[in-house]
Amino acid sequence: MIDLHTHVLPGIDDGSTDMDMSMEMLFIAAESGVETLVTTPHCNIPGEFDNYADKEMELLWNGLEQERERAGIPIRLCRGMEIFATPDLPELLSEERVWTLNGTNYFLTEFAFDEDPEYCWRILEECESQGFRPIIAHPERYFFLQDDLQIAYEWCTAGYGLQLNKGSPLGRFGPEVQQTAIELLNHGLIACVASDAHYPHRRSTYMGEIRRFLEETYGEDCLYLLLEENPARILRGDNLLGVEPIPFL
Ligand SMILES: [Fe+2]
Repeated sequence: MIDLHTHVLPGIDDGSTDMDMSMEMLFIAAESGVETLVTTPHCNIPGEFDNYADKEMELLWNGLEQERERAGIPIRLCRGMEIFATPDLPELLSEERVWTLNGTNYFLTEFAFDEDPEYCWRILEECESQGFRPIIAHPERYFFLQDDLQIAYEWCTAGYGLQLNKGSPLGRFGPEVQQTAIELLNHGLIACVASDAHYPHRRSTYMGEIRRFLEETYGEDCLYLLLEENPARILRGDNLLGVEPIPFL
């Protein structure tokens, strides 16, 4: 499996607090069958997580990779960020002030939960016009999308990848998020599923439960598409695969 969204990089956001915790998270991921994991710290949240692609970030990431190797944890680490969508996001991407996913033109982005969908569209389209392809983190958690699921259909048909959190269809974020997650899966709108892990135990890097859920509910092909094929395509910069999306109208 490939996990595209994790907060494993230590001491930089609200995820792992130190290197020991990061190693525990990587160990749990590898044990549950994750072969490739992308570190995606919160970035570009002014005053909260002022993280950008600078020397400090590079040193931190290299330190994590060295420690992983020293600990002998068999997992391939890739670089990324969970980039908060501010109006200057297209510039940040063009000027390489933020990391895309594994250096491709795909980037992982998040919105405020109560954002105006028109604002989201505007930023996404501007990024696209600069040659970047959005992967939208946990759409099922956004209030504006819970209220209007057709937005997810329109994003999907616009070519944007929707990344579901593993805990959402399992009910870990409450019944509204769970119901939205299931609707998005049932309508063929999800490109990939990732952990969005913040800690070793709660909201963890363990992928066994979601793997079983997807296999039992949607079958082996769906499981493979969402946890392996599409994430691999994203990390290579290739086009996403999917089933025919079903609108909500
Ligand atoms: Fe996240």
